[in-house]
Amino acid sequence: MIKQAIIPLAGLGTRLLPLTSVFAKELLPINGKPGIEYILDECIEAGIKEIIFIISKKKQMIKNYFYNDAFYKKIIKKKKDPRIINEYKKILKYKKMIKFVYQNKPLGTGDAVLKTRKFIKDKFFLMLLPDDLIIKQNCSKSMIKIHKRYASSVMASMKVKKNNVSRWGIYDLKKKLDKKNYLISNVIEKPSVSKAPSDKAVIGRYILPKEIFSKLLKLKPGKGGEIHITDAIQSLIYENKKFIAHIFSGKYLDCGSMNGYIKSTLEIAKS
Ligand code: G1P
Repeated sequence: MIKQAIIPLAGLGTRLLPLTSVFAKELLPINGKPGIEYILDECIEAGIKEIIFIISKKKQMIKNYFYNDAFYKKIIKKKKDPRIINEYKKILKYKKMIKFVYQNKPLGTGDAVLKTRKFIKDKFFLMLLPDDLIIKQNCSKSMIKIHKRYASSVMASMKVKKNNVSRWGIYDLKKKLDKKNYLISNVIEKPSVSKAPSDKAVIGRYILPKEIFSKLLKLKPGKGGEIHITDAIQSLIYENKKFIAHIFSGKYLDCGSMNGYIKSTLEIAKS
């Protein structure tokens, strides 16, 4: 069973400047609710029991959002407003599940994952990248089913425009397992159009094996001087570890960019 999820939250959010000059992008409201709560709800509905947030000192605001008890208690005592009481209860429910670890230098997603090494208990865990919102279907839940069926690591995936491949991790297919699931033979972080093995991209949901940590420990910085999770996955694939690309059915929204962020509010409002 997959019981633990990790969420890297230490990113600077430069694509959302100027909003992110003072604000954590994951707390920005999408149709009235902080983006991170959509991610938390996806985890809870998928049966996750513990969630590890990887934040930085600069993103302390995220921890404060869940640890503002004195403030809520004071207001509730004074006002007894049922709406506020409900909101506080929801925050408490989230807070019980969340552990915080720190990544104070933005050295990449792989480095963020490494910070959770001592806390991962089972053979596999889930990782969600909070910029990637998937609505209309719980992608984590579907991936956990696939993981159970094939006893394999799994990554969310979708087809992207050929001239856009350098924005993503791009993989090559080894074998079709069924309509929505493929074994991966090779994955490259943000390749140029000419070096891309396909037009299929990895999207921010991963079921990773614990062995990923030993690979990450040995990795040298890759593209842009960062430690990439994609490179650690690639070295596991070289050792014949199974990785499945799951073509998800939900709708993908890129909340890390200004256009995507605006679009996500409109999409969620109408659904
Ligand atoms: C990360 C991964 C990339 C993946 C993408 C999905 O990139 O490194 O392989 O395709 O997430 O959103 P980032 O968005 O952090 O640049």
